[in-house]
Amino acid sequence: MAIPVAQSNLSMKPQLQNSLPPSSPAPSRPRRCWLLWWWSGLGLAAVLISCGTVSQTVMAPPQIPGATYVGSDVCATCHDKISESFATADHARLQALGTNAIDMGCESCHGPGSLHVDTVGGRNTIINPRKSPETCFKCHLAQRGQFNLPYHHPVLEERINCADCHDPHKGRAVKGGSTSLEGQNDVCFKCHTQQRGPFVFEHEALREGCTYCHNPHGSINPKLLKVRNANLCLQCHFQRQTASGQVLIGGVLHSGVTGPGTGFLSRGTCWSAGCHEAVHGSQVSPSIRF
Ligand code: HEC
Ligand code: HEC
Ligand code: HEC
Ligand code: HEC
Ligand code: HEC
Ligand code: HEC
Ligand code: HEC
Repeated sequence: MAIPVAQSNLSMKPQLQNSLPPSSPAPSRPRRCWLLWWWSGLGLAAVLISCGTVSQTVMAPPQIPGATYVGSDVCATCHDKISESFATADHARLQALGTNAIDMGCESCHGPGSLHVDTVGGRNTIINPRKSPETCFKCHLAQRGQFNLPYHHPVLEERINCADCHDPHKGRAVKGGSTSLEGQNDVCFKCHTQQRGPFVFEHEALREGCTYCHNPHGSINPKLLKVRNANLCLQCHFQRQTASGQVLIGGVLHSGVTGPGTGFLSRGTCWSAGCHEAVHGSQVSPSIRF
């Protein structure tokens, strides 16, 4: 991947403040920090992150040949609905100070808008990230890597896109996030109707969310699974070994020298080999076998 390089007419020293509140609802998110972001006069983008807990690097904003930045206020004159609700968006909290604020906001994802404004929305004058995730990757480098893993949602293949699961314009960027009426699983159900149920015997694990077991972007394991073996299930289901060498899971014999459940664990993973194949819920089997 080529490192994006800032155009020389962009040489400046913007200070980017990520002022998202520290009381984040998602426990796994890194603590918010200050990002310092500057361009050198030679046109190379350099990035300084002032503390070690931010998991991403901020790179050059998207480029549109011949266009300059006009500022989000100008966008609001024609796109008033999007602009109004944008105040609530995660990405609206990215602030640049002083005159450098002009290339933040709308144009941080859509690119400089002067040609687009001059032509009143002329064709091919603005970037629409629905068509390509490249603008997102400028700031979210780690996610590019995730979508390159052997098993991944086909975003780079352009079959689905970031906006199917993320809302760039209002509220939490992760759709179905804490303030939304829609649950996070509902976002997945839009395309994966089979997992929705309703099931006669539901697997309560789904209440923890699809992302308890699946990496939404990509994984080294088939089916986007976070863990490829029984440990996926043993995070919640207690495994007990008796003195006589028997292994009990959920109080049921799964391995040992004698008894009906003796060979279970050697047959394969919990969800293969004719065992708990209906991992998302079952219409017929309380032990989610099929
Ligand atoms: C003078 C009016 C006007 C201004 C100002 C304006 N736009 Fe637009 N924009 C339009 C029109 C008209 C369209 C085409 C709408 C359509 O096709 O439905 C459009 C379409 C778009 C699209 C979709 C393009 C596509 O190919 O899918 C994006 C993204 C967009 N504008 C972003 C912006 C941003 C960001 C700004 C501020 C930099 C901005 N607009 C300022 C009039 C404007
Ligand atoms: C975090 C990146 C990001 C920011 C910031 C952003 N947008 Fe968008 N914008 C997108 C994405 C992604 C899409 C495609 C959404 C879709 O198709 O559902 C989009 C689509 C659009 C469209 C096309 C119409 C539509 O709904 O498909 C317009 C117009 C637009 N944005 C205007 C704006 C304006 C105005 C702002 C600032 C108030 C803004 N955007 C800020 C990412 C962003
Ligand atoms: C100008 C840089 C920039 C661009 C461009 C950008 N983002 Fe972000 N985004 C950020 C920063 C900074 C954060 C907050 C970082 C953090 O929480 O670690 C963030 C946060 C997020 C989050 C997480 C919100 C949460 O709840 O933690 C998602 C999802 C996201 N962005 C998606 C996108 C998508 C999709 C696009 C492209 C349409 C995009 N971003 C474009 C800088 C950017
Ligand atoms: C299939 C749905 C889906 C698609 C497509 C998707 N994401 Fe996500 N993304 C999620 C979910 C769900 C989370 C929340 C993960 C969690 O809570 O564990 C997330 C989290 C994030 C975060 C927060 C940090 C993290 O990794 O947890 C960023 C940033 C992000 N996504 C960026 C992107 C970008 C950029 C794209 C497009 C290139 C994209 N996502 C496409 C579902 C998706
Ligand atoms: C916009 C539609 C869409 C959304 C939303 C979506 N997916 Fe997908 N998902 C797909 C497509 C397309 C594939 C690839 C299927 C293929 O290659 O045949 C896929 C594949 C998968 C796979 C791997 C299936 C396999 O057979 O290897 C899993 C697991 C998955 N998605 C889980 C999720 C989860 C969890 C969410 C919510 C965070 C989600 N998906 C949201 C469209 C979507
Ligand atoms: C308890 C862990 C767990 C949870 C929670 C979970 N899944 Fe799965 N999912 C799996 C396993 C294991 C497989 C692999 C099944 C197989 O290979 O037969 C799978 C497979 C899939 C597949 C591929 C199709 C298939 O059946 O092989 C899709 C799509 C999928 N899951 C979507 C979802 C969605 C959507 C959610 C949230 C509603 C979700 N999963 C929640 C464990 C889970
Ligand atoms: C997020 C926690 C969680 C994960 C991960 C999880 N489960 Fe569950 N599972 C539950 C809960 C809660 C119940 C319902 C209470 C109970 O019976 O223990 C349940 C019930 C079951 C039952 C029915 C037990 C009975 O006797 O009624 C089976 C079988 C099962 N899970 C298998 C699996 C398999 C196989 C996996 C791995 C693919 C898995 N579980 C992963 C939480 C989880």
